[in-house]
Amino acid sequence: MKEIRIFSPASIANLSCGYDILGVCLDKIGDEITVRKTTKRGISIKKITGYELSNDISLNVAGLAASALLKNVKVNCGFEIDIHKGIKPGSGIGSSAASSAGTVYAINKLIGEPLSDNQLIYFASKGEIASSGTIHADNVSAVLMGGFTFVRNSSEKDFIKLDYPNDLVFSIIHPKIEIKTKDSRSIIKNQVSLNDMIQQSANLGALVHALNKKDYELIERSLDDRIIEPVRSILIPKFSEIKSSSIEAGALGCGISGSGPSVFSLCRGMDQAKIVSKVMKKVYDKIKLDYEIHLSKVNDKGIKIIDFS
Ligand code: HSE
Repeated sequence: MKEIRIFSPASIANLSCGYDILGVCLDKIGDEITVRKTTKRGISIKKITGYELSNDISLNVAGLAASALLKNVKVNCGFEIDIHKGIKPGSGIGSSAASSAGTVYAINKLIGEPLSDNQLIYFASKGEIASSGTIHADNVSAVLMGGFTFVRNSSEKDFIKLDYPNDLVFSIIHPKIEIKTKDSRSIIKNQVSLNDMIQQSANLGALVHALNKKDYELIERSLDDRIIEPVRSILIPKFSEIKSSSIEAGALGCGISGSGPSVFSLCRGMDQAKIVSKVMKKVYDKIKLDYEIHLSKVNDKGIKIIDFS
């Protein structure tokens, strides 16, 4: 294989109580990435379309992730990368993860797949430094494994794919403002109270169990973030109104998608998600704030190959 073109999907991280450790892979929206082998060693990003980003490999998430991978495998060629961004950077639905996970996935395919999913997640997570200032594998694990994923320990490469009900649908609203992940992380407090830590851990454990047991009422009770949401939600216009009206309209829960500004509502079934998306839209229509809305089932496969030669 000399060249491969893939679709690398968007994702939602945190899912309320799982800051940096819980993610889910979305359908349809994503980046298209082409990687080709070159005789010249090393990595170059040839083309970025869709949105403007640096193609300097030390500043671009895909370049950082690919460099981390190449330090750990022996190859006698180089790689050229073209990225068409379908996900706006700074939207909160895993724009950087789609590019970094997609790039390491494509390179692994081109070199005969010597690396496991867990190794790819580890290398892809290094890309997040460019956008977040730190490594976190919640988004990239969801993109590379599909479905709901859990990060037990990144440096030990311990990533887990969870069981979950197959009728879950996300309604996601993206207000057209940009929140940089680095900025949104910088306002989070470094210390939390013991009481908050206890309730957050209880919610997270219960959410993982509820997904596994398809216990919708427990999902509803567990989608509760005591630590991050109260701080970050001040950056998102009308967050509490969107949340309360979504839940009133039947959503199982609602929270900040990644580092925002997107907000997700988790619903049971597409019909419910459509009803919820209408009430979410209404909140921004009222204040004339421009937005995009996405309805997405859980993407269990993750990255998809479009073609190769
Ligand atoms: N877990 C990350 C955060 C996801 O919430 O900052 C965004 O990249």
